[in-house]
Amino acid sequence: MFRRVNFYSICFAFGLSVLLILAGSRYTDNLSYHPPSENRKNFRNYLKTEDGNDKLPQPLPTTSDGLPNIEKILQKTRTKIRFELSKYNFNDSGVDRLEDLLTESGGKPIRNLIVTTWRSGSTFLGELVNAFPANYYHYEPLLLYEIIQIRGPPYADKALRYMKNFMKCNHEGMEDYFEFGKTHLHQFSHNTRLWDQCKYKKELCFDPDFTSKICNLFPFQSMKVVRVRLRLIEELLADKSLNLKVVVLVRDPRGVLQSRQHRAFCQPSADCWSPEFVCADMISDYVAASRLMAKYPNRLTTLRYEELALNPNATTHKLFKFLRLSVTTSVEEFLQTHTQVDVAGVSSTFRISRDVPFKWTTSLYFNYVDEVQRACAEAMELWGYRKVHNASEMASKDFNPLQPYIVKQ
Ligand SMILES: *[C@@H]1O[C@H](CO)[C@@H](O)[C@H](O)[C@H]1NC(C)=O
Ligand SMILES: *[C@@H]1O[C@H](CO)[C@@H](O)[C@H](O)[C@H]1NC(C)=O
Ligand SMILES: *[C@@H]1O[C@H](CO)[C@@H](O)[C@H](O)[C@H]1NC(C)=O
Ligand SMILES: *[C@@H]1O[C@H](CO)[C@@H](O)[C@H](O)[C@H]1NC(C)=O
Repeated sequence: MFRRVNFYSICFAFGLSVLLILAGSRYTDNLSYHPPSENRKNFRNYLKTEDGNDKLPQPLPTTSDGLPNIEKILQKTRTKIRFELSKYNFNDSGVDRLEDLLTESGGKPIRNLIVTTWRSGSTFLGELVNAFPANYYHYEPLLLYEIIQIRGPPYADKALRYMKNFMKCNHEGMEDYFEFGKTHLHQFSHNTRLWDQCKYKKELCFDPDFTSKICNLFPFQSMKVVRVRLRLIEELLADKSLNLKVVVLVRDPRGVLQSRQHRAFCQPSADCWSPEFVCADMISDYVAASRLMAKYPNRLTTLRYEELALNPNATTHKLFKFLRLSVTTSVEEFLQTHTQVDVAGVSSTFRISRDVPFKWTTSLYFNYVDEVQRACAEAMELWGYRKVHNASEMASKDFNPLQPYIVKQ
C-alpha cells in the first residue's frame, strides 16, 4: 500500500515538474513576462481538472459545424458586461448610464493610457486598472518592436497609427501584430477579457475581425506602452473622439536600472541599459508632460511608482478619480492581494511593498549608483529623486530618496 502511494506521488511530482518546466520555458522566451495572477489561477484550475473527475469546461458556444459561434460569444460578452456593471454608479465616470459609454449605442468609451518604460511598475499598474469591471486591456500593442524606444522617425508614424487603431478597436492591416502574437501569447493573455475567450481557442486571438468586434463591446478601455515617449502621445490627446486620459508613470532611475540588471533582454539594448538614454528619456518626458498638461488641461497626470508602492490605497483612489473610474470591490480586492508580501517568487506583480521601490539601496554598489547619478542629475532633480552622497548614507534607514516635485506648466 505504502509503495503504491509512493509510486503515485513520485509520478505526480514528476508530472508537475515537467509542467512547471514547460510553463517556465514558454515564458522566458525573451521579453520579461510576469505571470499575472490570473495565469496562476488557471494553472491551479488545470491541475484540479486533471486531478479530479470533472471535465474541462466547454464554455465557447459553437455552431453546428463545430466552429466558435461568434454572434453567441459576443452576446454572452454583452450580458456579462451589463452584469459586472449592474451596481456601478456611472456618475463616477461622468455619464448617466452604460449606453453613454458603448460604441454600439452611439456612446464613447472611457479610454486611459499608461505611458512608461520597462521595469517601472507598469505591470502592476496595468493590472490594477484592468481590475476594474468590464475593462478591455490593450496590453503593449508595440511588443513586436522588442527592446527599443520610439522617439520619432522611423517608427513613430506606424506606432502611433497602431495605438490609435487599437483604441478605436480597428485591428485591420496589422498582420505583423497578430503574427508576432502567435509566438508571444502574453501579448493577448494580459487582456483578460479577450483571453477569457481565446484560452479555449487561441485562433480567436489571431483573428482581427473577432478581436475588433469584441473590443467594440467594452465601455472601459485601457492601454499600456513602455516603448513610446510621451512627446509623441500628443497626437492621441489631440484626437477628441478618443476621450483619452494619460498617466505618465515614472520611477527612480536607480531603481529602474537595478531591476533591469535581472533582465537578460535589457543589456544588449542601449535604450534599456544605458543610464544616459534612460535619463534623457525622463527629461524628455518631463518637458512633454509639462507642455501637454498646459495644452490639454486635466487630460494628463504624472505618477511616481514609489508613491504607488508606499501608499497603494490612497494613490489608487486619487488616480482612479482622475481616470474617471471608481474604486470598485474588484479593485480593492486586487490591492489587497497584490500589495502585501512577496508571495510568488522572482517576477510577479505580487512584489509590491515597502521594500521593493528602495531595493537598489541595498543591492547596488555605491560606485554604480554614483555613476547613474552623474548621468541622471537633471532627470532626478526634475522628478524629485534625492541624490545619495556615499555608501553609508545609502545604507542608512534615514535616507529618503523621495522629495517633492512639481511638473511646471
Ligand atoms: C530575443 O530577441 C532577440 C532580438 O530580437 C533575438 O535575436 C533572439 O533570438 C531572441 N531570443 C529568444 C530566446 O527568442
Ligand atoms: C448624476 O449626476 C447628475 C448631475 O451631475 C445628477 O443630476 C444626478 O442626480 C446624478 N445621478 C446619480 C444617480 O447620482
Ligand atoms: C483607502 O483610501 C480611501 C481614500 O483615500 C479611504 O476612504 C479608505 O478608507 C482607505 N481604505 C483603507 C482600507 O485604508
Ligand atoms: C556621507 O554623506 C552624508 C550626507 O552628505 C554626510 O553627512 C556624511 O558625513 C558622509 N559620510 C561619510 C563617511 O563620508
